[in-house]
Amino acid sequence: MKKLVAFLLATVMVMSMLTACGSSEAATETAAEVSESADGATSAALADGVLTVGTNAEFPPFEYVGDDGQPDGFDMALVKAIGEKLGVEVKIENMEFASLVTSIGSKIDIAAAGMTVTEERKQTVDFSNPYYEAVQYVVLPKDSAIASAADLEGKTIGVQLGTTGDFIATDIPGSTVSSYNKAVDAVNDLINGKVDCVIIDKNPALVFESKFEGQVVAVDGAQFDFEIENYAIALPKGDAVLAEQINKAVEELKADGTFDELVKTYIEAE
Ligand code: ARG
Repeated sequence: MKKLVAFLLATVMVMSMLTACGSSEAATETAAEVSESADGATSAALADGVLTVGTNAEFPPFEYVGDDGQPDGFDMALVKAIGEKLGVEVKIENMEFASLVTSIGSKIDIAAAGMTVTEERKQTVDFSNPYYEAVQYVVLPKDSAIASAADLEGKTIGVQLGTTGDFIATDIPGSTVSSYNKAVDAVNDLINGKVDCVIIDKNPALVFESKFEGQVVAVDGAQFDFEIENYAIALPKGDAVLAEQINKAVEELKADGTFDELVKTYIEAE
């Protein structure tokens, strides 16, 4: 009897060791698969199986803090869907917009933040293929007389720090730029009469227009000769495997209808 118990115990131990080995091997293989391209090049960002995504959840409908206190919005849903395609865990880090680009490669792997592709940012980071087209809008008090590019000259302009709206406002002749960490604070100062207008991306501008209905209006930047911008995911410079994997995942999400679903849920429902 003792012998039989010992034999059974030994069998159970060997079997559980085998299973443990098997599953950890399988997990390593998957992580290695996504972090390695066909020619054997690897992605440092994907190698640990966790994709840390930086954002600034002050930019509805692309990112905002949800009712549960966690970052939510189109970009968050998109990166989670990308993570699922790549078989990696997605962790979101909410931080100041102006810190995102310089945090890539240290605090975060990538940034998804309605970020416009600019030549200046390209000096520091790479970008995925663009996934959304945007333009800056001008948010005005209800009765403002501002209606053209010339009208913006010499005005006090509210912006979110480090955004393309900030760069445009700075270039307007005679402007005084008030920059805020949170876009909503700029809009509050517009309502309080501390700034003459706020320059911010189209979709957040429309969200603020409906949030502060009757107090502010959002005007299309085309009326002020602002150029079309493209949003893309910011990536560590030189990680070609990561860029390829992310672009492929987004292509798949477009092909299978997930991307359009997210646009409907988050952007068009706003
Ligand atoms: N598209 C603008 C830019 O890239 C503004 C983005 C702001 N995004 C945010 N999550 N706060 O500069």
